[in-house]
Amino acid sequence: MYKINLITHPLVEHYLSILRNKDTNYSCFKQSVDNISYVLASILYTKLDLNSVRIKTPLKIARGYIIGDDVVLLPILRAGLGMMEGFSKLYPKAMVSHIGIYRNEKTLQPVRYYFKFPRIKNQNYLKIFVLDPMIATGGSVIYTIEELLKRNCKNIYIVSLLCAPEGLKAIDNKFHKLLNKELFIYTCSVDEKLNRFGYILPGLGDAGDRLFGTI
Ligand code: PRP
Ligand code: URA
Repeated sequence: MYKINLITHPLVEHYLSILRNKDTNYSCFKQSVDNISYVLASILYTKLDLNSVRIKTPLKIARGYIIGDDVVLLPILRAGLGMMEGFSKLYPKAMVSHIGIYRNEKTLQPVRYYFKFPRIKNQNYLKIFVLDPMIATGGSVIYTIEELLKRNCKNIYIVSLLCAPEGLKAIDNKFHKLLNKELFIYTCSVDEKLNRFGYILPGLGDAGDRLFGTI
């Protein structure tokens, strides 16, 4: 129904179940976000272009491949930071941009407090992985996509753990023409709905608070 890419993998299901469990403690929650992020980061590798190279083994010339794209990792603060351990291990050469956004608790509108993005000459070979575990109303991710489009970014990958249908619909309404062309949504689950406070049901609670122990 939505133009999204659902990530199905036994390890993803396993760690997601730990994350959803309200009895999972702070350190186990953080460890599970690290672990699921490694899995997502390795799956996203399949989206990068490879350049063919010649390699000398001790015996002969072999064909090898190197990654042809530049990558920017863009965590949405705070909770997106939790996904950085896995991604930065697998993408050690990636540039890291940060955007700070929180939701106004009453209006649920995104409030930006920080953004730093690298100056890029050629966007064609650049892939941007926007990291945020939760897409609820979609406001934070939509704000981020708009900022990236202002900078002429063309390969935007949103990587999340859980989405609400309301958030996906909002993204679709705004960016329908770009979806699966210049903008790609990757998620591990589309949950049931939002509650009246804008939390995803069944969800996993407040990702930032559970990650940083600020409950
Ligand atoms: C959470 C989450 C997303 C946002 C999703 O951030 O990490 O960024 O909510 O909600 P939305 O789709 O309705 O915008 P939060 O505002 O709790 O800030 P935090 O990460 O600093 O805790
Ligand atoms: N942000 C969260 O951390 N959790 C939700 O369920 C919705 C937004």
